[in-house]
Amino acid sequence: MKRRKRGGKKGVTDRGRGQGGQPPNGGPVRHIPVLLADVLRALAPKAGERYIDGTLGAGGYARAILDAADCAVLGLDRDPFAIEAGRALEAEYGGRLKLLETPFSHMEEAAQALGWDRVDGVVLDLGVSSMQLDEAERGFSFMRDGPLDMRMSGKGLSAADVVNTFEKDEIADILYQLGEERRSRAIAAAIVADRQRAPFERTGQLADLVSRVLGRRHDDAKHPATRTFQALRLYVNDELGELTRGLEAAERLLKPGGRLAAVSFHSLEDRIVKRFLQTRSGKQAKSSRYLPGETQGRAPAFELMDRHGVEPSEEEIAANPRARSARLRWAIRTASDPIH
Ligand SMILES: C[S@@+](CC[C@H](N)C(=O)[O-])C[C@H]1O[C@@H](n2cnc3c(N)ncnc32)[C@H](O)[C@@H]1O
Repeated sequence: MKRRKRGGKKGVTDRGRGQGGQPPNGGPVRHIPVLLADVLRALAPKAGERYIDGTLGAGGYARAILDAADCAVLGLDRDPFAIEAGRALEAEYGGRLKLLETPFSHMEEAAQALGWDRVDGVVLDLGVSSMQLDEAERGFSFMRDGPLDMRMSGKGLSAADVVNTFEKDEIADILYQLGEERRSRAIAAAIVADRQRAPFERTGQLADLVSRVLGRRHDDAKHPATRTFQALRLYVNDELGELTRGLEAAERLLKPGGRLAAVSFHSLEDRIVKRFLQTRSGKQAKSSRYLPGETQGRAPAFELMDRHGVEPSEEEIAANPRARSARLRWAIRTASDPIH
């Protein structure tokens, strides 16, 4: 059974809309911050403190942290468009907000560049923003036809490179491991057969192929290409590797008493955050070779808070369907040495 937090969180959705939800004039849809009140409760910003928002997006969290206390925020995003769009916010907050285009796994170098030795809080709001998803040209969407790209940073291999050049088995493994797609082999075989006639260039081509292979039932809650697109996006952006490295970097960077908050949107991400925090807080009953780093009898690096994580209320989901699968996990840094 899924745990859902009940009860009103009207302030969250109202605030989210005010900061970039669907504007009343019918302008472009902006990102609505998810679980914002819970993230603020976890970070508990105080005057004079330093925070890293590792996933700036539309700046919803950064703005809320800066409004909650007279503190400073370093906002990171690997997407140059997010950083460019955030420049107005940076100017609005004077010297209290600094932005840097970099992946959050590099947060230590980013903090050093500002002369920050340790920080009081790190927040990660994982995955893609509404702007990225809704902009067809970014190539993340199976709903809007666009170039088959999916790179948040615009650098490195694109999704088209993967489907057009990887071996059939490699494609199948990506779809199975990162999309939990049970028909991964059939989809990979169809991709390899189709690309001999013409390479994949558009998201629509790939979405149509997956629908053809899996069939589409009218009662399907999800588009059949959901898992395939998730897998390619995670692969192209190395999202799970980034997450593990980002959590480890946050552990090294946080002061004793500093707070780490991570909001995930699917089970693969949530599993990594959950296991990391459990292991590092000494809550992992049994060790596993798959865990990102073992404590090996050391003092816990974190105290785990809200043990089962925090999920959005029904009200928040109704106001912002993209909050549906979100889960916040957070913990407070102890005074022990970092593990790495
Ligand atoms: C869900 S949005 C964040 C929304 C933000 N909290 C807000 O309230 O507007 C995720 C953002 O994180 C960025 N991102 C994802 N993975 C990243 C990584 N490894 N390093 C830096 N930025 C990343 C994406 O480009 C995207 O802009």
